[in-house]
Amino acid sequence: MEIEFTLNGAPVKVDAPVGTSLLKLLRETLGLTGAKPGCEIGECGACSVLLNDRLVNSCMVLAHQAAGASVVTIEGIHDPDGGPNDLQRAFIDAGAVQCGYCTPGMVLAAEALLARDLTPTREEIRTAISGNLCRCTGYQQIVDAVEIAAAGRRRSLAEPTEGQPAAFGFVEAPHEQN
Ligand code: FES
Ligand code: FES
Repeated sequence: MEIEFTLNGAPVKVDAPVGTSLLKLLRETLGLTGAKPGCEIGECGACSVLLNDRLVNSCMVLAHQAAGASVVTIEGIHDPDGGPNDLQRAFIDAGAVQCGYCTPGMVLAAEALLARDLTPTREEIRTAISGNLCRCTGYQQIVDAVEIAAAGRRRSLAEPTEGQPAAFGFVEAPHEQN
């Protein structure tokens, strides 16, 4: 069955056998291996992608459910020059990447959170990544990384651009450390 959707901002048309998961389509047909196969029963989040801006486990989504939708994988998250974006750099700086298997899903979970909230508490960050399991870090550094990126994005929004006043100002309130 042929389906068309937008993948990381570009249109794709691809043949997807009925019953194929989106994870399998991405990895095996489209060659995007950033979404990882973990449990493949919707428990670990290693396969996370954004489907119409919503975080989903791609192992639990049928490929044909992506028809007409926008899918963003970790390959679509980067700076304009192709390098790591601010959130990905924060993961590195905070020591939030160890084996790295969970990292694509974690970054996408964090992007989904930051798209709707640039002032999340540590608890809200933990909730946002609660469907993504990490066996290495203990999560502390991941929460740190998301806080760093959120603060950076708030600063960017508050910075006046040439000839324009700052859009708004944030008062940095330290979050409780867990
Ligand atoms: Fe999809 Fe674990 S591989 S949730
Ligand atoms: Fe290894 Fe998270 S860094 S599973």
